[in-house]
Amino acid sequence: MKKLIIANWKMNPKSLEEARSLITRTEHRMNQVADKVQVVVAAPFIYLPPLSHYCHMVKLGAQNMSWLTEGAITGEISAQQLKLFNVSHVILGHSERRLYLGETDSVVNAKIMTALKYKLTPIVCLGGEEDAKQNNMPKIVSRQFGAVTTNLSQKQLEKIIFVYEPVWAISTMEKSVPASSEHAKVMVAYLRKLLAKKIGIARAANMPILYGGTVNRSNVSQFSKHPEISGALVGAASLDSENFWEIIKEFYRESIHRS
Ligand code: 13P
Repeated sequence: MKKLIIANWKMNPKSLEEARSLITRTEHRMNQVADKVQVVVAAPFIYLPPLSHYCHMVKLGAQNMSWLTEGAITGEISAQQLKLFNVSHVILGHSERRLYLGETDSVVNAKIMTALKYKLTPIVCLGGEEDAKQNNMPKIVSRQFGAVTTNLSQKQLEKIIFVYEPVWAISTMEKSVPASSEHAKVMVAYLRKLLAKKIGIARAANMPILYGGTVNRSNVSQFSKHPEISGALVGAASLDSENFWEIIKEFYRESIHRS
């Protein structure tokens, strides 16, 4: 299984020029790592159409989408519209959407269904909740996991990329505290166990489960050294092409080392 490194640009960068430059710097280097690493860039909606011309090895992702497929829904974007611009992935259930925009588990569940229907790969974040603390993460993750996967078949579950992203470890949060790589490893393994209960141990072992929260060039080796962690969802560090490249390279090196 290839390692997966996903950039979540959030509401950045400030101009299309910067967006184009960021993505092309990664795109031009992808042939050095593409046999072991897949990179996805989740850009703001309005940059997706122009960026689609510059992405060949890098895949494009959206940061959200509507659970409805069409109709009079002001301000929303549909899965079908995303597909028009070669978008292959979509982040769903990010803690910023849960905390600031009222996104609930049932909305995330509906969005997962819609994404799968239109063959978009859902990148589903677990770990965002107001009272999240290190010691109650298993409880939060298992509750969120159960709720967002309600009524999904085994086949559907296997198409999802899950991310353990504790909200308190996100670099831009007030009082942010980076998670230890031990904690990340334990929680990724915990999430894999939850998956195994639904799809069996062998299938769960083959699914990508990522970690997100202040991953950057200085600490990436702490996370990449654990084979349980299939890659990273990267916020702030993905806005600096050199920082982002070091993260990609480190997972690549680790992958080569183990093969
Ligand atoms: P940071 O890497 O800035 O902590 O952001 C993580 C994140 O929210 C990615 O979705």
